[in-house]
Amino acid sequence: MKINDWQIIEYDEVKSTNDEALIMSQKSLAGYYVIKADKQTGGRGRRGRSWVGLEGNLFFSMLFEFDIKKFGILTVICSLTLLQCIEKLNDKVKVQIKWPNDVLLNGAKVSGILLEKAEGDFVVAGIGVNIMQSPKSEQMMYPVTSLKENYINTTANDFLKLYLEIFDNNVKKLKENGFTGLRQQWVDKAKGIGERIVVKQNNKEISGILEGIDDDACLLLKENNNISRVLAGDVYYES
Ligand code: BTN
Repeated sequence: MKINDWQIIEYDEVKSTNDEALIMSQKSLAGYYVIKADKQTGGRGRRGRSWVGLEGNLFFSMLFEFDIKKFGILTVICSLTLLQCIEKLNDKVKVQIKWPNDVLLNGAKVSGILLEKAEGDFVVAGIGVNIMQSPKSEQMMYPVTSLKENYINTTANDFLKLYLEIFDNNVKKLKENGFTGLRQQWVDKAKGIGERIVVKQNNKEISGILEGIDDDACLLLKENNNISRVLAGDVYYES
């Protein structure tokens, strides 16, 4: 199957579509690939976490050439694309982005993105979307939800098609007009702009007023008139 220029490779079940994409990148390839699975048994999340593979949800990894120095920009494009897909399916719901790349639907996490460097100039953008259900466990770090729980009815395949169309359109905008417009769209939808937030890193916490993101998509935090750039971490809001 092909959607735009994307060659879609479909599996019933894999451990992780990101792992499949990373293996695929070892062959000398050219082009644009999507590895999609109906079921994932060992899905990986950011910062060494796992991603639960519930039935009916969407699990896919995009494999394509992208300038590794622009990883941050790719993060913005992927999260903005997810948000725009959900808004297109229902323009009444509240969709926001939580840095670096979580999409929140009515305040709860509905999708996750794991970007990884692959062979050569290839990158893997692994995306999970809770279409039909969300993992309910007391160990979750944040509230989680699914599209279905918010009365948004779609399927994993339909969502993927919409995602690729909007993603391609955003990449075209980046090529034609640069990053500024996309960054502003991201900032307009980011949760907590102008508010005090805490970023938790491995063994450190940084607190400050969320100002936005810079050209590399690093978080900008203001404290006592100093702006600091944050490269990684988990964001916590005060309210
Ligand atoms: C996160 O929020 O921690 C990122 C989760 C990313 C999950 C997706 S599901 C498809 C792809 N394959 C994986 O193993 N992980 C990503």
